[in-house]
Amino acid sequence: MALVQRCKVQGSESRRGQRRTKMSTCPVTGLTEEEKQDLIRAWKKMIGTTPKDFKNAGISLVLWMFDNIPNMRSRFTKFQANSSRTNLIADEMFLAHTQTVILALDSVIKLLDNPTKLKQKLTSVVKSHVGQNPPIGSEYFDPFAEKFHIFLQAALGVPRDDKEVKAWVKFLNALCSLVKLEEEAVKKAGKPATPSGAPCCSIL
Ligand code: HEM
Repeated sequence: MALVQRCKVQGSESRRGQRRTKMSTCPVTGLTEEEKQDLIRAWKKMIGTTPKDFKNAGISLVLWMFDNIPNMRSRFTKFQANSSRTNLIADEMFLAHTQTVILALDSVIKLLDNPTKLKQKLTSVVKSHVGQNPPIGSEYFDPFAEKFHIFLQAALGVPRDDKEVKAWVKFLNALCSLVKLEEEAVKKAGKPATPSGAPCCSIL
């Protein structure tokens, strides 16, 4: 697992041996430069080009998560997550949550070249979930990482072994590793993740 804060940069020579290109591996996600570009390319296709596309991408993603991550719906208290799709997309609180998720992912993507800030952002997302009582941890994030390729394949119209899909799976597996580290840290600290009396499942 690559979790140090500095990028490992390897110089490599071109065939003529004259020009040096930089091949860096992200210390937070383990993604190579090429995989980062694949991740970004897929993300741009997913979020489209207009604010409406972006909004719809958030809605589609969270609706898909609700249908594919076991018991995810049960963790929401600010809106009726068990409602029909029609009701959900008419619910301002649900819509706000979809934008929270897509914006969080978008800011992660924008920080891919800044390992320190990337780690901070991912850690904050992870802590805000694992810190819930009961925790929102691997039980939810693992199925997300395992199944996300299905969402992406449908969104991009590409096969499972497409390199953009593989880059996303790798990225989400790195996220799951951070979730596990945080779960271990919470366990080791031996204290409740949230102050007692904090509302169950309520992050915001
Ligand atoms: C990459 C995946 C995910 C991202 C980027 C994400 C992002 C976020 C963010 C940014 C928040 C607001 C946190 C805060 O304000 O401190 C949030 C809240 C929340 N997330 Fe996630 N999340 C993800 C996956 C999940 C999963 C798998 C679950 C499964 C149950 C989940 C359940 C929740 C819940 C219950 C809340 C609180 C909502 C509320 O009460 O308003 N999230 N999420």
